[in-house]
Amino acid sequence: MSAFLGSGALWYVSRATGVVAMVLLSMVVVLGVVVSRRVRVPGLPRFAVAELHRRVSLIAVAFLALHVLSAVTDTYVSIRLVAAVVPFTSDYEPLQIGIGAIAADLGIAVVVTSLLRARIGIRVWRSVHWLGYAAFPVALLHGFTSAKDLRSGGVLVLTIACALAVAAAVCYRLASPGSRRARAHRVVHDGGSPPAAATDRLA
Ligand code: HEM
Repeated sequence: MSAFLGSGALWYVSRATGVVAMVLLSMVVVLGVVVSRRVRVPGLPRFAVAELHRRVSLIAVAFLALHVLSAVTDTYVSIRLVAAVVPFTSDYEPLQIGIGAIAADLGIAVVVTSLLRARIGIRVWRSVHWLGYAAFPVALLHGFTSAKDLRSGGVLVLTIACALAVAAAVCYRLASPGSRRARAHRVVHDGGSPPAAATDRLA
């Protein structure tokens, strides 16, 4: 990649893709809560919201890959590819890069298990999927600790907006934990499809 882009350009690519990945990750978590709580989004059927959640998560992973690749190929600093997935093995900023590796591992684990859901079963999938909530704050911590220049201006405003959106979704999730009985009630009285049927489209 560095053969096509100079080190300066790669630095900008790495920063820009990191910021886009953070925004997409916050959208994925919010959409996950919307899917999980079966919140009605005006103009969108439920399966479309679930499909949006899935697709945005895949786009987020693509931006995460670009973020990592541009950082690794930038010759200004030396970061090995393995340090992007094995926490705290980087010679350069081991703590900051290590936190980023944890965020990447969490996101990859959630996406990979989602793609294998039909094979691993709903219980294992759901247990791993809870890690999706941890991925966002860890990614945020990585951004804040490693990119000092991103702690001000428009990107700071964007980061705060993402954090507030995720915090609001988590509060909503905690306030409406749901239960099998409540879900069954919704299926019968709300005309909604059973949870398994609704989510099987995503497998
Ligand atoms: C970075 C990747 C992802 C993150 C961070 C993420 C995060 C979340 C979160 C936070 C929830 C709410 C969980 C709850 O409170 O019960 C959720 C729900 C859900 N996610 Fe994801 N997700 C990701 C990728 C995916 C993918 C790739 C799929 C499908 C292929 C998927 C399918 C679902 C489904 C079906 C639900 C609703 C579960 C239910 O019925 O309760 N997610 N996700």
